[in-house]
Amino acid sequence: MKQKWQLWIGGKWREAKSYEPLFNPHSNEEIAQIGQAEPADAIEAIVEANAAFQKYRSYPAHARAEILVKAAAIMEERTEELAKIVSLEAAKTIRNAREEINRTVQTYRFSAEAAKNNYGEQIPMDAAQGGVNRFGFTIRTPIGVVTAITPFNFPFNLVAHKVGPAIAAGNSIVLKPAEQTPLSSLVLAEIFKEAGLPEGVLNIIPGKGDVLSEALTTHPHVKKVTFTGSVEVGHLIQQQAGFRKLTLELGSNSPFIIDEGVDIDKVIERSVMGSFTNNGQVCISIQRIYVHNSLYQQFLERFVSRTKRLVIGSPLEESTNITAVISKKSLERLQSWIDEAVQEGAKIECGGTVEGNVLLPTVLTDVNRDSKVFRFEVFGPIVCIFPFDTLDDAIKDANDSRYGLNSGVMTPSIERAFYAAERLETGGVVINDIPTYRIDNMPYGGWKDSGVGREGVKYAMEEMMEQKFISFKISDN
Ligand code: SIN
Repeated sequence: MKQKWQLWIGGKWREAKSYEPLFNPHSNEEIAQIGQAEPADAIEAIVEANAAFQKYRSYPAHARAEILVKAAAIMEERTEELAKIVSLEAAKTIRNAREEINRTVQTYRFSAEAAKNNYGEQIPMDAAQGGVNRFGFTIRTPIGVVTAITPFNFPFNLVAHKVGPAIAAGNSIVLKPAEQTPLSSLVLAEIFKEAGLPEGVLNIIPGKGDVLSEALTTHPHVKKVTFTGSVEVGHLIQQQAGFRKLTLELGSNSPFIIDEGVDIDKVIERSVMGSFTNNGQVCISIQRIYVHNSLYQQFLERFVSRTKRLVIGSPLEESTNITAVISKKSLERLQSWIDEAVQEGAKIECGGTVEGNVLLPTVLTDVNRDSKVFRFEVFGPIVCIFPFDTLDDAIKDANDSRYGLNSGVMTPSIERAFYAAERLETGGVVINDIPTYRIDNMPYGGWKDSGVGREGVKYAMEEMMEQKFISFKISDN
């Protein structure tokens, strides 16, 4: 892999004014030098993207789909190499990194299908007295330059959820990848070039969010901003973007309810996985588990015992489950949140300590509802477990959150499943499984502070297009 990465603007590598080292979060070794875009580079990328859009907007759907299909095939062919990049820069276990590349291939394939299925609607004009003797229909047209700001935790697939729909829609893109994981985006430059994407349609400018966000959200050519990340940055972007179209995929503290009558054997493995996969650095990671009183003690013992057997190690080892969290800053924040929770009454059932750059998977009970580990998104390997008496209590507690992305409910009762599904205040409710569940064609997005809009290829694409209504008068009679 090359060591020094420039900026990808207008289909060419451009020298950056400055470079910064990129470190492997697990080993602390330097893995590359990354060009740092400045606002002037962002503006240049936006201008190039706008120029490219003027031609690309009229590319037929079959040609856009063909590019996406080719890019997916190249990625599939290079799975092992790409998974290693994710593993190196994000400290993701190699098995999870391979899964991410597989999902990414699917996301680009779904994007190719979405490009070919861009349907409008026929309006029954004669339903209104003034509509007689007219045809009415809608078409959806590309919007223009989309700017995408993406997170570190799925550096391939969450980029694909923005780049794929934008290319499918006939838009051009300026992508600012997460500071911690620029390589997974920069390799896309050559992949999409090889797949035949016209120059300037995809621009990639690594750099600092606070330096680049104003240009990316306020330039007059920018017609849509799509961001995945924290609530705080999401609010800032919303203020900057004004009336532009906006998609915000923000945080969560996802609840998982285990109702009475559930077979505990069937939930332990999935619950542990949903709490600690990717070190809990997943927006829909389980943060709060509610277990019916009749099962609580048994569940807690078995959950803790399974958690203690998770394998801590290098991301590149096949057997590893738990690795370094993304940064020292994140490690310090997590440790301080645990300390604060303990001062506020929580009990540590396991974990709670740091080894190298790893926070040992941490299980907390007796957590005060005002503690940060309950109220805010942890985004780390910490889970809180609570007993409940009635399903209504569990639903009320689950809804006691500023967030609402995914929730999960295990229950043997179909009536109680629907009862909970109707009442939980989240964008997705996963019945008979954990909330840490996503396939790439399902609508994905949050209520409340979890965000604005939906992703899931077809839904993301719709939000990257303008709808136009056309009325066609047939005769004067
Ligand atoms: C996220 O962290 O929001 C993405 C989760 C996923 O795609 O599985």
